[in-house]
Amino acid sequence: MYKKEQYYQKVITSLLNGMHFLEADYYRPQWHVSAPIGLLNDPNGLVHHKGNYHLFYQWNPFSCEHGIKAWGHMISKDLVSWKHLFPALIPEEEYESHGCYSGSAIVVNDQIKLFYTGNVKFKKGRTAYQCLALLNSDGSVQKLGPVISLPKGYTGHVRDPKVWRYGENYYVVLGAQDIHKQGKVIWYRSSDLENWIFLGELAGSRLNGFGDFGYMWECPDLFHLKGKDVLLFCPQGLTKQYECFANLFQAGYVIGKLNYQTNSYQHGAFQELDLGFDFYAPQTMEDEQGRRILIGWMGLPDENEAYHPTIKSGWIHQMTCPRVLTLNNGKLCQQPVDELKNLRSDKIESSSIANDIPSFPMISSEMIVKGEANYQIKLSDVILIEVNNIGLILKRKNWRTHSWESRTWQGTLDELHVLIDRSSIELFINNGDAVLSSRFFSNKESTNISFNGEAMIHLIYWKLSK
Ligand code: FRU
Repeated sequence: MYKKEQYYQKVITSLLNGMHFLEADYYRPQWHVSAPIGLLNDPNGLVHHKGNYHLFYQWNPFSCEHGIKAWGHMISKDLVSWKHLFPALIPEEEYESHGCYSGSAIVVNDQIKLFYTGNVKFKKGRTAYQCLALLNSDGSVQKLGPVISLPKGYTGHVRDPKVWRYGENYYVVLGAQDIHKQGKVIWYRSSDLENWIFLGELAGSRLNGFGDFGYMWECPDLFHLKGKDVLLFCPQGLTKQYECFANLFQAGYVIGKLNYQTNSYQHGAFQELDLGFDFYAPQTMEDEQGRRILIGWMGLPDENEAYHPTIKSGWIHQMTCPRVLTLNNGKLCQQPVDELKNLRSDKIESSSIANDIPSFPMISSEMIVKGEANYQIKLSDVILIEVNNIGLILKRKNWRTHSWESRTWQGTLDELHVLIDRSSIELFINNGDAVLSSRFFSNKESTNISFNGEAMIHLIYWKLSK
C-alpha cells in the first residue's frame, strides 16, 4: 500500500528515468493509446462527459510486469488526441492492498462515479471488494470504500464491475468464479449505488445452454443495442476448437433479452469479438452522440508477454483503436470511429493486378482493398495477409519462438480495411463483420507494404499521422 504523495513521486521518477528510451523506441504507437511508461492492460471507466472522453486503464507504472495496479487516466475531445492526467485510483487502502483492479464509470447528477475491484491477496488465497469512488472535476478522487463484498458460493475471483442504469435503479455485472471452478457473470441491483441486492447468476458455465465454459469469466459488460441486450465477457479455460478460441483466453459476447422483472437473461451462442492474436478485456461506453464505442486491450496475459521487445524501452502494450459497434444479422460489427479519418494524408489510389502495385511505407498507415481473391500483402518481414477463396489468413512471425503462426477468417472478402500503427495491425473485414487485431515487431530496416499475386485489386492508401 502507498501514500499518495509517495506514489506520485515514484511515478514521476519512473517517467523521468524512462522518457529517453521511450522516445527512441520505433515500436511506440503514433496514435493508439499506450501508457506513458510501464505496463498497461484493460481499459477501465470509459465515459463521455461534458465533451470529454475519459479512458482509465490498468496500469503498473513501475515495471513491465503485472504487479499491483493503479488506474491510469487520459482524456480526449475527439478519441484521437489524448492527454495524460495523474493516476486516478492508486492502491492506498487495506481493501485494495494488491491493486485497484478493473471497473467502470457512470455519470450521476453531473458527477463521474467510479466502480472498481479492490484486490486483496493473502499468503494463501485472495478476496475482492467492489468499491465506489467519486471523480472530482480536477481529476482527483474521493474513495467511498467497498460497497459489495464477496458473495457466498464464489471464490476470491469476483471482479471487474460494470455499472449501468435502467429505470429508477442501477445494476452491476461482475465476472466471477464459483466454488466449483466455473466461470459466471453475477449481478446486483441498487437504488443509490451504495446498497446492493444480489440478483444471482446472469450467465455462466452450465447455465442457459453453456456446457463447461471456462473456469473464470473476466471483464463483463452489458448494454442495450438495437432492441437487444448484449453481454460481453472474457472466458478463461476454453479449449481450442479448430479455428475458434485460438488464443489462450477469449473475448466475446452473447446477444439476448434481459428481463428486469424476473431477473433472468435468455441469450444465444457465444461469438468471438476478434480473431486476431492480441485482443482482450474490451469495454464499451455510450457517447454523447449515442454511439456505442468499444476499446479493447491489444494484448493478452500470455506466455509471449515476458518476451515483448518493447520491455527494454520500459513500456508494454497498447489499446485498440476506438470502434463503433452496430448489430447486424445477429452479429456485433465493429468499425473504427470516423474521427480517425482526420489522421489521413497523402492519399494514393490504384487499380491493377497485385503484382504491379508499388510498395508503400508501412509505418502508420491505412488501406482499403477490394477485388478478386488470391493475393498476398506482406507487411515488413513479420506479417503476411493471404486472401484466397476460403477467406483470409493473417500470418505472424512470433517474436518469442520466431516461427510463423496464423489466424483465419472464413468467408467471401468484399472489402479489407487495414489500420497500421508501427507495431500494431487491425483488420476490419466486410465493414467490420469480422476483426483481427495483432501486435508485431518488424525488423526496423524492413518496413514496407508490398503486394503479390495475379488478382485485380483496387487499393486506397493513406499515411496516418497526428
Ligand atoms: C483482465 C484482468 C481483470 C483484472 C485486471 C487486473 O485482464 O485480469 O480481470 O481486474 O486484469 O489488472
